[in-house]
Amino acid sequence: DDVQQQERFDALVADDQRIEPRDWMPEGYRKTLIRQIAQHAHSEIIGMQPEGNWISQAPSLRRKAILMAKVQDEAGHGLYLYSAAETLGIDRSELLDMLHTGRQKYSSIFNYPTLSWADMGSIGWLVDGAAIVNQVPICRCSYGPYARAMVRICKEESFHQRQGFEILHHLSHGTPEQHAMAQESVNRWWWPSLMMFGPPDDASPNSAQSMAWGIKRHSNDELRQRFVDMTVPQAQVLGLTLPDPELELDEETGHYRFGEIDWTEFMEVIKGNGPCNAERIERRVGAHDDGAWVREAAMAYADKQATRSQG
Ligand code: 3HC
Repeated sequence: DDVQQQERFDALVADDQRIEPRDWMPEGYRKTLIRQIAQHAHSEIIGMQPEGNWISQAPSLRRKAILMAKVQDEAGHGLYLYSAAETLGIDRSELLDMLHTGRQKYSSIFNYPTLSWADMGSIGWLVDGAAIVNQVPICRCSYGPYARAMVRICKEESFHQRQGFEILHHLSHGTPEQHAMAQESVNRWWWPSLMMFGPPDDASPNSAQSMAWGIKRHSNDELRQRFVDMTVPQAQVLGLTLPDPELELDEETGHYRFGEIDWTEFMEVIKGNGPCNAERIERRVGAHDDGAWVREAAMAYADKQATRSQG
């Protein structure tokens, strides 16, 4: 009965075991995972747009090929995560409808414009760098399909982060104009990258329950600090400065202190008032509508296969 099921579930989570799709789970656990995995998948799909805009403007064939591979990876991550969400008993068409109608979110970071080629470097280095810091702990998430999806996604994110770092390193050590372009880009992407980790812990309504269920392994602020600590030394190697005059190493703790994040901006962006929110959803809905014939054809083909196999 439910009491025994709850006790078994609690024991599995307490023992750092995996919950699998066929296991009994509290309705709230299922809902939280659908929310987080779907929004993670939406982030990957929407995230293709800011970078996609630069595929036709890449400075060389080599850069173009790398960027195309990265954008294709993001699409694959999205489809992987929609499949993980579907193991919880919801169809991806419902999730996409919730994205298109603003009932589900995607990462705030993708509501900022990509204004120069150097942004491809900042997105790889900062946005994918932050995504790795956030995603590595999810490899140990209590829900099996989500944890396993993360293992593969994290491997590909590392390539994304390295190619971004390499773009910025090349520009930063190039002509003065190239250095200036890299610096101007990092100035725009630094603070929004810190916001990716979510609101401060004392303003994070989902954290406590997500941590109790072994979905969230570290708090928003903890991962944000981990990202700052690993990124500041990399900026020094790049020869670029980070746009925060309060950034300084605290010898005592070994962590970097940093300035106040503009949480009003964050709340505005996730409310839909960021620089590119409307454009991103418009492009997404347009792509969905343009792709209707492909989905219909695939369904018709699947039905034909099904009837044929029934002979
Ligand atoms: N952008 C948009 N919404 C955000 C957000 C952000 N950066 N940070 C928090 N929020 C939302 C939350 O979704 C929640 O709203 P909801 O209840 O309607 O979902 C609300 O703000 C309160 O935040 P909480 O901290 O209480 O919410 P969570 O416990 O869910 O923590 C999170 C937020 C840390 C983003 C967590 O959901 C998470 O780890 N998600 C998985 C990782 C993910 O989605 N990453 C996307 C990054 S981009 C990416 O991966 C692509 C890469 O390839 C470049």
